[in-house]
Amino acid sequence: MSNPDELLRIEGVRKTFPGVVALDGVDFDLCRGEVHVLLGENGAGKSTLIKMLSGAHTPDAGRILVDGREVRVHGAQDAARLGIATIYQEFNLVPDLTVAENIFLGRQPRRFGMIDRKRMEAEAEILLARVGVHVSPRARVRELGIARLQMVEIAKALSLDARVLIMDEPTAVLTSEEVDKLFGIVRQLRADGVGIVFITHHLEEIAALGDRVTVIRDGRSVGQVPASTPEDELVRLMVGRSIEQQYPRRRADRGAALLSVEGLTRDGVFHDVDFEVHAGEVVGIAGLVGAGRTEVVRAVFGADPYDDGVVKVSGDRLKRHDVNAAMAAGIGLVPEDRKGQGLVLDASVEENLGLVTMRAATRSGFVDRKAQHVAAERMAGQLGVRMAGLGQQVRTLSGGNQQKVVIGKWLLADTKVLILDEPTRGIDVGAKVEIYQLINELTAAGAAVLMISSDLPEVLGMSDRVLVMAQGRIAGELRAADATQDAVMALAVSTPTAEKNTAKEASRGH
Ligand SMILES: Nc1ncnc2c1ncn2[C@@H]1O[C@H](COP(=O)(O)OP(=O)(O)OP(=O)(O)O)[C@@H](O)[C@H]1O
Ligand SMILES: [Mg+2]
Repeated sequence: MSNPDELLRIEGVRKTFPGVVALDGVDFDLCRGEVHVLLGENGAGKSTLIKMLSGAHTPDAGRILVDGREVRVHGAQDAARLGIATIYQEFNLVPDLTVAENIFLGRQPRRFGMIDRKRMEAEAEILLARVGVHVSPRARVRELGIARLQMVEIAKALSLDARVLIMDEPTAVLTSEEVDKLFGIVRQLRADGVGIVFITHHLEEIAALGDRVTVIRDGRSVGQVPASTPEDELVRLMVGRSIEQQYPRRRADRGAALLSVEGLTRDGVFHDVDFEVHAGEVVGIAGLVGAGRTEVVRAVFGADPYDDGVVKVSGDRLKRHDVNAAMAAGIGLVPEDRKGQGLVLDASVEENLGLVTMRAATRSGFVDRKAQHVAAERMAGQLGVRMAGLGQQVRTLSGGNQQKVVIGKWLLADTKVLILDEPTRGIDVGAKVEIYQLINELTAAGAAVLMISSDLPEVLGMSDRVLVMAQGRIAGELRAADATQDAVMALAVSTPTAEKNTAKEASRGH
């Protein structure tokens, strides 16, 4: 073997699925003590490539070598034996088992032939502390939010003590604080000699963490560059052109208030939330995780109840906790958890894109399938959904392309008030711009957009106004011109009081 530090090597790997060539001759190698970043557009073949190493897929052609010897990785056991652990982009935990059971699934510590729960939970506790997540080993995975799920996945992979650790977009659902913790862990592992394959769409993470970058386009490796390569050069390699303007917000004329939220309160979760979104406007909601942003928009959409307050659409009061009423009034929600709430995974791209329009059509008793098909085709084209055809099952789309479908179904539905919760999570830099352009079209046509995002440059770049939430309250509002990262962060970490409340009560009394 030429390079003594080489852990593994992939040569000319090919993989086809019905109607798609996912990998068309990819080369890749990984050394001890390095972070090797895999970069590529949505659907380029990143996840498929790492699944060759984790044993989830077997290549149609090409070779995989570990320590210079050709190996066959058929299934998770083979991967484990070779010292390869994988954190998948699509979570692989069992919802009804506890956190500890998930971490030690299939290899629970035993005592006198029985599962040693005490020991299992104690060991899980240590692993969870190592990744710095506050969750009980006895909690059911079903009850965890998406960021904690990700941290449990990471704890599980660490418990395998692997020589090769593969991380498929581990930071997509994490907050900056959690990302910092994760980076600390990765740097320690690298120092210990572990080889790490790291996939991300956040380009700034590459220079911060990576050593080398392999770029994949359309299932082929198109280049290998150092992680210190400037971002615009990485973008050019990845999408084959440069991107002029990352945030192409075109302001539209501001019309009447389409969404009015007054005094919205859910005891212990959010309090006295007031805001309006007007026709033609994009209003961003920034804040730290746990500030109550998702909870507020779910309540507005009727997905969760609230205890006090009023939601109005075009001045008409909306029934509380009633998604059907919200949809009939023209509200749409792209949820943060696309797998759980946004998609029917076993249905086709066309069926998923038509989900919302179909409801309206069924209500009116007339379904124009031809028109649905044409509309789905147009939307998939505009969003650049990479697929074998409109009939492809959504489950088999790449992560980013699934997210495009969730957004597309609402864009097709004549939504008056579109609420987006982390809309560009997992979306590549080029496709993001397409989505922003569609947001522009929507507001130009008189719709209102409310957007939650933990990606501050995105909130600042695309919003006309920014609401900042902290501890379940609106801590302040900034106009686009005054909204800097510092101004937003200052509000996000502030402790808003209920004073505003009393001031309002007083003014109501006069
Ligand atoms: N099981 C499958 N059946 C059919 N097609 C598949 C399957 N798995 C992947 N594909 C296709 O292979 C291609 C590559 O997908 P892959 O998931 O590897 O992309 P990716 O680079 O990870 O993208 P993303 O950034 O969106 O996660 C896509 O066109 C996808 O639809
Ligand atoms: Mg992927």
